[in-house]
Amino acid sequence: MSTTADRIPHSAPLPLLVLGHGRDLASERGVECPGDLPAPSDPGLVERARAAREALGEKVFVLGHHYQRDEVIAFADVTGDSFKLAKEAAARPEAPWIIFCGVHFMAESADILTSDEQTVILPDLAAGCSMADMAAISQVEDAWDDLVEAGIAEDTVPVTYMNSSAAIKAFTGRHGGTICTSSNAKTALSWAFSQGGDGRVEGGTGKVLFLPDQHLGRNTWARDLGGSLEDCVVFDPHRPMGGLSRQQLQDARMILWRGHCSVHGRFTLEAVKQARREIPGVRVIVHPECRHEVVEAADEVGSTEKIIKTIAAAPDGTRWVVGTELNLVRRLGEEFPRQQISFLEKNVCYCSTMNRIDLPHLVWTLESLVAGRVVNPIHVDPEVARHARVALDRMLALPGETHKD
Ligand code: 13P
Ligand code: SF4
Repeated sequence: MSTTADRIPHSAPLPLLVLGHGRDLASERGVECPGDLPAPSDPGLVERARAAREALGEKVFVLGHHYQRDEVIAFADVTGDSFKLAKEAAARPEAPWIIFCGVHFMAESADILTSDEQTVILPDLAAGCSMADMAAISQVEDAWDDLVEAGIAEDTVPVTYMNSSAAIKAFTGRHGGTICTSSNAKTALSWAFSQGGDGRVEGGTGKVLFLPDQHLGRNTWARDLGGSLEDCVVFDPHRPMGGLSRQQLQDARMILWRGHCSVHGRFTLEAVKQARREIPGVRVIVHPECRHEVVEAADEVGSTEKIIKTIAAAPDGTRWVVGTELNLVRRLGEEFPRQQISFLEKNVCYCSTMNRIDLPHLVWTLESLVAGRVVNPIHVDPEVARHARVALDRMLALPGETHKD
């Protein structure tokens, strides 16, 4: 295991990522899609996808995350947020092939939760997540060593957001922690604190190491559990001891990993204020990956699934400004024309990696299966999968209502 001295210094130049070739070692996913893809301009793509889908019948099950393009969502058997899709993947033992139209960490989780007889396929291996890439397993192992050194590891429960590599999920399983998603983070955190504060360590107050999204961790702690921001510290993996003193680590209740979503990080408090000034009676609804000040200023906060359900249940004429990925918000605008739906950012704000899955990739994946070739299978190392499954199963067994279907 590396020491703090071996870590990449803050100022080290980052290696350039050559797109389309090889593998990016700093990422949890690949960087290329080794396929002979149909041209995006092919007017027969929809028909080709339909024919291949029909030929495969029940053998294939297509999952679509809410951030996917319309052309992909049109072929999804089920759509959902990351929690719902994980459960759906686990509930289809009869389908030998699960095509996951989402990002790499979601496909890895589906592989862990499905049987050995099933194969999970990601139509483009380069569909990763910039937030998941902000925590590498070696950095997390080093951080844990720092907590041991500060004498607090025994009293700390890791809670890891679904948006993380399988290796970090396995770390979480090995250290008594749980996975969470944006729809059950409150339940997961309450569970984690009940472990630490339950006398697991005598006199312990209980701490959580929250990985890798500092915003989801902070928002859940402050907004849902009523915790104080003064009890949070941010652990920067690029600095010795996370850039914190021993005392700061010992005093903290929430140790937040310094990671964030580059898409949700773009929504600002100023945009919320502007919406309130310009749209009378507007309701602001945002994803909990947004910054704390944005979440504090919003009327409603929730996972993609919760955002959809909240808007679906609102009366005609309701005015909304929505802070989450643009594919989903645009679709909401089309699906609920009796409500006025606006986007909380004047610049285009797609998740570029989610958008990598497009109709050409889906057609290529489906037609390859028809021809007897499984392309882009996601196989998590069995030992990693075993420990990651412990943490995922803890999440699936969390008490109370963890998801509003
Ligand atoms: P959901 O779990 O709300 O679908 O969020 C996943 C995600 O990646 C949001 O950026
Ligand atoms: Fe990752 Fe953000 Fe894209 Fe979600 S929206 S997949 S957190 S980069």
